[in-house]
Amino acid sequence: MKSICLLKKVFVMAIFLCTFFLVFFWANMQILNLNGVDTALISKMRPLHVKSRLCHVNLIDGRNHNEAIANKSDLKMIYYITPTYPRPEQIPELTRLGHTLMHVPRIHWIIADDQSLCSTNVLNLLRRTGLPFTHISSPKPYVYKGTNFPRGVSNRRAALVWLRENVREGVMYFGDDDNTVDLQLFDEIRRTKKVSMFPVGLIGDYGISAPIIKDGKVVAFFDSWPGSRTFPVDMAGFAVNIEFLTPTATMPYSAGHEEDKFLMSLGIKLDDIEPLADNCSKVLVWHTKTVKFKKPNLKIDIERISKLPKYEDFANLLKETSRLGMAGIFSKNGSKTFIIKDRKTFEPLSLLPTLV
Ligand SMILES: *[C@@H]1O[C@H](CO)[C@@H](O)[C@H](O)[C@H]1NC(C)=O
Ligand SMILES: *[C@@H]1O[C@H](CO)[C@@H](O)[C@H](O)[C@H]1NC(C)=O
Ligand SMILES: *[C@@H]1O[C@H](CO)[C@@H](O)[C@H](O)[C@H]1NC(C)=O
Repeated sequence: MKSICLLKKVFVMAIFLCTFFLVFFWANMQILNLNGVDTALISKMRPLHVKSRLCHVNLIDGRNHNEAIANKSDLKMIYYITPTYPRPEQIPELTRLGHTLMHVPRIHWIIADDQSLCSTNVLNLLRRTGLPFTHISSPKPYVYKGTNFPRGVSNRRAALVWLRENVREGVMYFGDDDNTVDLQLFDEIRRTKKVSMFPVGLIGDYGISAPIIKDGKVVAFFDSWPGSRTFPVDMAGFAVNIEFLTPTATMPYSAGHEEDKFLMSLGIKLDDIEPLADNCSKVLVWHTKTVKFKKPNLKIDIERISKLPKYEDFANLLKETSRLGMAGIFSKNGSKTFIIKDRKTFEPLSLLPTLV
């Protein structure tokens, strides 16, 4: 009796273990879809019943490129100051911003780059926009090397110096390379007499940073970080008429207080501020942030690939990837890379000519 009972237990145990291993095996083979990896594939195979609605179609190109971009010399020039620094996202961010600025008449783009050399990538990009521009190399002071803060100060200071030495009139605006800007903002800030202010979206814990307006005047501010600031606003939340840019205007190396101290250095009062964007009720600029991309290092012998005549284009793509700083490519170190072919073949890149 005892032995039958034991046999029963062993049998149940064996069944249990078998099931466990089978499920584990299937899951690994992705036969059983336990973690939803293949839902996209499955939903592609299944006919989808989505009720869509056509809302509006406009086939007319209503833009008048010539008129929009030609020299409208009666308009005040906008000096758009962009601090930037080298990283994998730098060129894509500047491309996106540049393509916004290309729609704006009478604009001069000042890019101040936090690196000691004049980046060819940045210069090429500036040239391709066709915009008037100033390209400045403005590395941060040595004492701040290796620390993250305060970023962008030496860049903005360098741009201010250039403005003071070269420009008599116009409107200046600090727009970071990752901000998103509505084209209407440019029409609005062009009217700035002294200092104008407007809301900035995606800031801090309130999702917005903005002046509070009463009877068309700025009376207070709505911003989740007071920080003992007289003007608790974001860098992208104000524009300044260059004639009002006093010789004392400067920006301190003080993280979080750059905007406030800069506005204080202009000697402005609350009463001087001109609210824009429908009395600060609309959002025309956002503090968007691109997720940081960790630059991968790849072990690829580009020289070898360059010598394979049929793979010249691929070798050039690898060089472009490295040149734009999206990946480090070294012949001696870095992660291994593979090439994929026919859904099945997954072979080291070093086998390039024999595989394909
Ligand atoms: C704009 O002005 C510049 C310099 O004043 C001139 O060289 C250029 O031809 C003008 N462009 C157009 C489209 O009028
Ligand atoms: C802003 O408010 C003032 C005072 O209420 C008003 O006169 C003005 O028309 C408003 N401006 C806009 C653009 O709504
Ligand atoms: C790989 O070697 C290069 C020099 O050949 C060096 O600059 C780079 O930092 C190295 N990368 C890694 C991940 O060790």
